Amino acid sequence: MANKQSLKQGEKVLFGIFGAFVIAAVIGYALLEYVRMNSDKPMFQSKTSYVFTEAGLRGSKTFREARCTSCHRAMRNGTNMGLNLDGIGTKRSYEWIESFLFNPEETYGTVTLDHGMPPKEAAYVSRMSKDDLIDIAEFLFGLKAEQGAAASPMPPEGNSQFINGMLKMMAPDEWDEKYQDIREKSPEAAQ
Ligand code: HEC
Repeated sequence: MANKQSLKQGEKVLFGIFGAFVIAAVIGYALLEYVRMNSDKPMFQSKTSYVFTEAGLRGSKTFREARCTSCHRAMRNGTNMGLNLDGIGTKRSYEWIESFLFNPEETYGTVTLDHGMPPKEAAYVSRMSKDDLIDIAEFLFGLKAEQGAAASPMPPEGNSQFINGMLKMMAPDEWDEKYQDIREKSPEAAQ
């Protein structure tokens, strides 16, 4: 005969805490979905886009076939093990990207983690054919970032309370005497 045991005090507390977490998670998720569905602005705005030349289109195929996506993210595909390359065409020049693919360490000016000489895991990249690397450079240069994206030199448009708060907390008071606030520049001037 199974003996029905009542829970010990400690077990009750543990299950209680666990239950409270589950309930909080469910309520949080329901609230998030409610706000997302009723908001007229998209909650997670995409601030990266792409424009491809014919070579860029070839490059995007080579990029996937050459397993770059096992470490990188591009066009919202792939992993974040290496760097997210969305927006790199705004952050870097075409010349920089091409130069990095052929000579990663010289271009970085320092030792790299994965690109570079064997046995580094991405050492194969700089040994790919010249044509393939040029196509990939074209592809990457076509990955653009809008103002406010992580890869963009310009912070989001408008007066952000968040940025003001961070500046107040992190920057010394007299920072604006020494530096110009990039938000007061025109976007073209900051590129
Ligand atoms: C094993 C993981 C790995 C693989 C595979 C890989 N990368 Fe990378 N990549 C990295 C890491 C890590 C960095 C940062 C530099 C470093 O330390 O090597 C980087 C940096 C880069 C950068 C410079 C980004 C910047 O703005 O600083 C480019 C461009 C790039 N990779 C392109 C490629 C391409 C194209 C391929 C495929 C042909 C590829 N990578 C495959 C890990 C990888």
